[in-house]
Amino acid sequence: MTKDTSIAHAGSLYIRYRGFTMLIVGICGSPKKEHSNTRSLLEKALKAVPNGQTMLLNIADYNIQHCTGCDSCVRKKPCPQSAEDDMPKIEKILVDADAIIIAAPSYFTSVPGVLKDFIDRSRAMKMNNHQLKDKVFGAITYAGLRYGGQEHVVDVLNRYALGQGMIVVGSVGSPVKHGTFGSGSLQTDTGSWRSSEEDELAVKGCELLGQRVADVAFRLRSIGE
Ligand SMILES: Cc1cc2nc3c(=O)[nH]c(=O)nc-3n(C[C@H](O)[C@H](O)[C@H](O)COP(=O)(O)O)c2cc1C
Repeated sequence: MTKDTSIAHAGSLYIRYRGFTMLIVGICGSPKKEHSNTRSLLEKALKAVPNGQTMLLNIADYNIQHCTGCDSCVRKKPCPQSAEDDMPKIEKILVDADAIIIAAPSYFTSVPGVLKDFIDRSRAMKMNNHQLKDKVFGAITYAGLRYGGQEHVVDVLNRYALGQGMIVVGSVGSPVKHGTFGSGSLQTDTGSWRSSEEDELAVKGCELLGQRVADVAFRLRSIGE
């Protein structure tokens, strides 16, 4: 967490932002490995971060086993599942992050199972002295239908972040044009279909969210120096 005015850490996990090295991690919660609409929006949010070097994790690329409810983490013992899957790799990255953005498609107005597995397994980070505490958090969602449960998905994600002690922020754009989180739908107002790339308000909302997350993370880092 040091102020660094000389190096950009090009190619590393860290970005330099207004003189600080920061890590902003995006997690795509779609089970799709290709052509994910939420991933495309997450990329827009990360690209909007000044200096642009960020890290995107596709949750579908990782082997994450279900939480079995054994409560080992509550007793501060290692999670038995972590000896066999990829959770430790993700935890290692998230511990270093200044900010985290999670993007999730609406699946029956909630998050897909692959992302819920990550959420449940990350309970170990909470039990281990709130390892995600004070990281800035932003949520993105995308749904098939115009009214497809977007607000419910964002609510799930924001409450998850609050439970982990993170600092939840929303985008701040035009008060009469932009919403407070990255969101949209494949379905247009007239009932035709589009991709998230073609959903201008969703793209703009995600860009604003990326900027807001980076800005708040920077302010927190400034206070800490
Ligand atoms: C199992 C499943 C459940 C879904 N449930 C909903 C839903 O409740 N509401 C909705 O509008 N779209 C629903 N969808 C559509 C997805 O939200 C939509 O296709 C989204 O763009 C997928 O994002 P992705 O391309 O990033 O995976 C569902 C899709 C699947 C596969």
